[in-house]
Amino acid sequence: MNLSNRLDYLANEIEVGEAMVDIGCDHGFLPIYLIENKISPKVILCDISNESLNKAKENFNRFLPEYTPDARCGDGLKVVETGEVEAVVIAGMGGILISEILSENIDKTLSFKKLVLQPRSHIEHLRRWLAENGFYIVKEGLVKEVDNICEIITAIPLKPYHYMYPVNLVYQRNPLTKEYLLREYQKYKGFIKSIEEKSTKGEKYFQYVEIIHWLDYLNNMME
Ligand SMILES: C[S@@+](CC[C@H](N)C(=O)[O-])C[C@H]1O[C@@H](n2cnc3c(N)ncnc32)[C@H](O)[C@@H]1O
Repeated sequence: MNLSNRLDYLANEIEVGEAMVDIGCDHGFLPIYLIENKISPKVILCDISNESLNKAKENFNRFLPEYTPDARCGDGLKVVETGEVEAVVIAGMGGILISEILSENIDKTLSFKKLVLQPRSHIEHLRRWLAENGFYIVKEGLVKEVDNICEIITAIPLKPYHYMYPVNLVYQRNPLTKEYLLREYQKYKGFIKSIEEKSTKGEKYFQYVEIIHWLDYLNNMME
């Protein structure tokens, strides 16, 4: 299946191995593509409208007749369990509606690894909501859709190490960024190795592992 520029951008925000839910899936093209291309091992289709959900199921049947989609009719994240997927996509709705969906159960919303959001309006409201509710915007993209230019936000739950190594280090393209991040990476690798050799794995150990993953993420952003 060929995706539009907008849906293609959304698909690229999902990493191989990440399970996802498409809230307001309508046609279902994004989850179809993610299964077809073996990007997501699991997708959940969600829509408040039965008619839209049936459209997505029919498209699944057309493109992937062997696959039975997990389709749930309901309001926003109410039909998804805490931590059930890594990535939540909410695209093609107003920014106020998106923030209402995310607000419904903030602990649940914070349990997902990543939010990929494409508001059709009130983006300033959504950005403010994310900042005030413990999310960190790691990427902002623009894609053309016919005559429209769509803004797409990727946000993750904010952690203390995002203050240590902000995404701006990468976006500023400083020639020292790569070397700096590599040094920090090696430093934390050293801490981890020493804990593994000398003591039991406590809270600090798992914090260091998370920092290593974040430094890896920043490093990949530069490639
Ligand atoms: C314009 S379509 C967007 C379809 C697709 N996400 C895209 O970006 O191409 C919006 C969809 O969101 C659904 N929707 C609206 N409010 C919703 C809610 N609270 N929970 C789940 N789906 C919702 C609508 O029924 C509709 O199918």
